[in-house]
Amino acid sequence: MTQYVAAVDQGTTSTRCMIFDHAGRVVSVDQLEHRQIFPQAGWVEHDAEEIWENTRRVAAGALAKADLVNADIAVVGITNQRETTVVWDRTTGRPVYNAIVWQDTRTDEICQKLGGLGGGQERYRTTTGLPLATYFSGPKIKWILDNVEGVRARAEAGQLAFGNMDTWLLWNMTGGPEGGVHVTEPTNASRTLLMDLDTLSWDADICAEMGIPMSMLPEIRSSSEVYGKVRHRGALGDRPIAGILGDQQAATFGQACLSVGEAKNTYGTGNFVLLNTGTEKVMSENGLLTTVCYKLDGKDAVYALEGSIAVTGSLVQWLRDNLGLIGSADEVEKLASEVEDNGGAYFVPAFSGLFAPYWRADARGAIVGLTRFVNRGHLARAVLEATAYQTREVIDAMNADSGVPLKSLKVDGGMVVNELLMQFQADILGVPVIRPVVNETTALGAAYAAGLAVDFWSGEDDIRSNWAKDKEWDPKMGDAQRESLYADWKKAVTKTFDWVKR
Ligand code: G3P
Repeated sequence: MTQYVAAVDQGTTSTRCMIFDHAGRVVSVDQLEHRQIFPQAGWVEHDAEEIWENTRRVAAGALAKADLVNADIAVVGITNQRETTVVWDRTTGRPVYNAIVWQDTRTDEICQKLGGLGGGQERYRTTTGLPLATYFSGPKIKWILDNVEGVRARAEAGQLAFGNMDTWLLWNMTGGPEGGVHVTEPTNASRTLLMDLDTLSWDADICAEMGIPMSMLPEIRSSSEVYGKVRHRGALGDRPIAGILGDQQAATFGQACLSVGEAKNTYGTGNFVLLNTGTEKVMSENGLLTTVCYKLDGKDAVYALEGSIAVTGSLVQWLRDNLGLIGSADEVEKLASEVEDNGGAYFVPAFSGLFAPYWRADARGAIVGLTRFVNRGHLARAVLEATAYQTREVIDAMNADSGVPLKSLKVDGGMVVNELLMQFQADILGVPVIRPVVNETTALGAAYAAGLAVDFWSGEDDIRSNWAKDKEWDPKMGDAQRESLYADWKKAVTKTFDWVKR
């Protein structure tokens, strides 16, 4: 009987279930968006129960669309938006507060205070590979414990559990209050500011410093092993769940970046460039993160350098939803194509401060270079170009950290259908940009992690041989023009700093 692998991809704006065949091709997909909750400027929340409900619905939807039943699914993988923080009651299964999303900047003061204990932003870098920034989960947990009434006492009494979206879904899928498995794995745990990158275990000193009871934290297992079975009722019932990867690491895996020096860039709500550095962790001196890329069962962890950019695709959504300049996201390419260039306008989308390589929570967005000449087309173009310039910044940092300039960049995600952007990306980087046939690399990576654990795929060579190139964009711009445009972008970035008074 032909069997398939299902992957749940819980992203920032939507939840999908995708079913793949043995060749790594998409058999079916179902997807539901969830609400983005903005209680005040700089805050971003999700309703974790809505996301769990959507997960059940898309699992059923994906099976139905392919006319499959549970028994046709060999194994299930999970991939997720990382850092987003849920704290829930182990007995009732109810979250004590909305999920605080990775983009949320409310923990700026907490981060400032922790940094003030000594070492500033670098306080936890040696242990965790991360700067002390609002992006990560630890300070978000602390905020919930400090600000939601009665929660700290319940946490200290062992009644509450913490998880990122992987753990929240795994716990619910495996039974919730009735025997749910409270587990995560290193790619997600390495985004909390609480995990030691060498031992792959929670760091007791950092937890104590942030006032986080370790009883709340999930057990850290590998990224590819059987964690449990989906509860009997409903879609995917009784199928083993055997792979978890944070979404950006999953995309790296799905892009077959399995050797040292291979890198990918995913164009989602934000952009995330990951460079495989093998079993050696490289500590960044240029504003990048050191993170776990994947950890297969019984093998050493593989690490990555990561350039995280908070706002790229979500800037196109902002253009649609907040300015009404376009009716749908894909219209941005047509509008941008009406003009030759950006007309002198640069748009720095520092909506969540600026992430890599700056880590400036005090930055806010800016559009600069405006004259009466600038029109809607120029603004659309500046929006697309912002994605390419921000990518150049993190690739420059990566080249400086690794000492070996990147020769080409594999790309995936929603925006890579945008030809104008892809050509401009190749131009601004000065290296070829390559898109694979299966662009759904995030879900595919989670499927691979799960499939490897149960021998559905026999090894990494299967992943490599399933990868195929769809299209390549080669740089056409001259060096002088490239560097002049980029210098103007760098100047624009400086205009965004110091907006938030501390
Ligand atoms: O670190 C945040 C990242 O995991 C979010 O990815 O694709 O949901 O925007 P995405």
